[in-house]
Amino acid sequence: MTARVLLVTSEAVPLVKTGGLADVITALAQALRQQGVDATVMMPGYPAAIENACNLKQAGNLPELPGGPGTILHGVMPGSDVPVVLLKTERFDQRTANPYVDENGAEFDDNALCFGSLAHAAVSICAGETDLPVPHVVHANDWHAGLVPALLRMKGITGVGTLLTIHNLAFQGNFAMSAAADLAIPDSMLTPDQFEFWGKMSFLKAGILYADRISTVSRSYANEILTPRFGHGFDGLLGARREALVAIPNGVDTGAWDPASDRLTVRHFSLNDMRGKSGCKRDLQQLFGLPVDPFAPVLAIGSRITHQKMADVAIDALPGVLERFPRAQLIVLGRGDHAYEQAFLGMAERFPGRVAIHIGYDERRAHALHAGADMLLHGTRFEPFGLTPLYSMRYGTIPIASRVGGMIDSIVDAGLQGTIPDDASGILFDGEQAQDMVAAISRAFELYARPNEWHLMQRNAMSADFSWSGPAEQYIGVYREIAPVEAQALFDERSAAVNDSVNLPADEEAAEAAAMPEYMTA
Ligand code: ADP
Ligand code: GLC
Repeated sequence: MTARVLLVTSEAVPLVKTGGLADVITALAQALRQQGVDATVMMPGYPAAIENACNLKQAGNLPELPGGPGTILHGVMPGSDVPVVLLKTERFDQRTANPYVDENGAEFDDNALCFGSLAHAAVSICAGETDLPVPHVVHANDWHAGLVPALLRMKGITGVGTLLTIHNLAFQGNFAMSAAADLAIPDSMLTPDQFEFWGKMSFLKAGILYADRISTVSRSYANEILTPRFGHGFDGLLGARREALVAIPNGVDTGAWDPASDRLTVRHFSLNDMRGKSGCKRDLQQLFGLPVDPFAPVLAIGSRITHQKMADVAIDALPGVLERFPRAQLIVLGRGDHAYEQAFLGMAERFPGRVAIHIGYDERRAHALHAGADMLLHGTRFEPFGLTPLYSMRYGTIPIASRVGGMIDSIVDAGLQGTIPDDASGILFDGEQAQDMVAAISRAFELYARPNEWHLMQRNAMSADFSWSGPAEQYIGVYREIAPVEAQALFDERSAAVNDSVNLPADEEAAEAAAMPEYMTA
């Protein structure tokens, strides 16, 4: 028998993605499988997920979910051997664009029912109520899966360990108390020592209270969330559960983000042969309609354009920088709050030929940006991990980032003045004012003009180890601790990679294939 883990999430690449969570889930599942753990991803059956998942077969009917009946579909992620379980419901059928908010950015009013159903469905799998094997551990990610540990407890299911990973404490899944009845959550659980949080019912709080272990995605963020500044109201509760809290950093998909083999860049390069980087810079300038100038320092931003990511501060800081450094170019790729998007577009009008903005989500442009820019500006008020600066570093694009969360753990600061340390790989800055950001960018431009130091930083950035194998091993250690006693040895006795994507016994599998309708991919 193999150790089985069900990763419950609201998004995963390449099916549906709004942020780093989606990258992390699929890459982690892959890394776990390579290390002999049978990891399966479970997520909502949004239309895009159902269209793109491969070999979908029905693996159960759940007529009594809170948001209406659901069907469990089982298949494989495209482009990998990672098995995926999709919960198809009428409500998820309606989520054709952003899975959480409507076109005006307002949260859908049935989010509690939708994600409550996801949690109930995961619990049904753990209770053996579907055709899928019961996992030894269920790994719930963010508030969307926050109810899973509590529902397992309420149903008296003890044979499954629970881990809650917090990818971003700012998103909490807080809903009107009136939603509780439909989710089969009794009034007795709506007290301040249970799910109540500032007059609402909180999915994330439920997860923090009931998970066997809680993890978050960097060591620094794990410390930060115990403080009022970063705790988003949960610092006290997390402090009370400190013993259960662990920090496991994310990795980066080093195959997808590899300057030597990237399928989405025009040139390839590596630590030992950097010549291709200038071709990538030229391509980036052309792609964004800026003059091709190999000597212009190109500063890039590539992230959600939101308050968290300090879009307001960048909008304040950058015009002054552009005036002071007349050769510099600025390239922005992202989308987010409308007002910030408009302000960036205004900046492009004010500095023609110097500033280019692409509002939208675009994988090709993202790769071109990380590969071709000289520096990546990543101001952020808090950052649980932060994948984008690490993508940049893989391509020798130097990050200029806020000294918070994962940035502290993954970037070695060159400092704002003086000689740079031998292991410097970027620039970190404190503060949330325009002048703080300007000082950091100015320092980057100063170092850019000193090739020896710049190349040293590039080498350090490109040789940093961000692979998933270490983090996956740490997760396996936690899974082992929380798995039922009789299954713990399975997490030790992992021999080879798990390749089979359908884990039903062979005869059942055949019967299944014959009896079930197949959901075709698009
Ligand atoms: P967060 O999850 O807080 O947004 P991360 O840096 O961890 O921050 O992850 C963001 C992910 O989303 C990265 O994979 C990044 O490349 C991607 N991303 C963000 N905005 C865009 C965009 N406009 N186009 C393409 N990819 C984007
Ligand atoms: C969240 C965080 C980001 C992290 C990602 C994956 O979206 O904001 O810092 O990298 O989750 O864990």
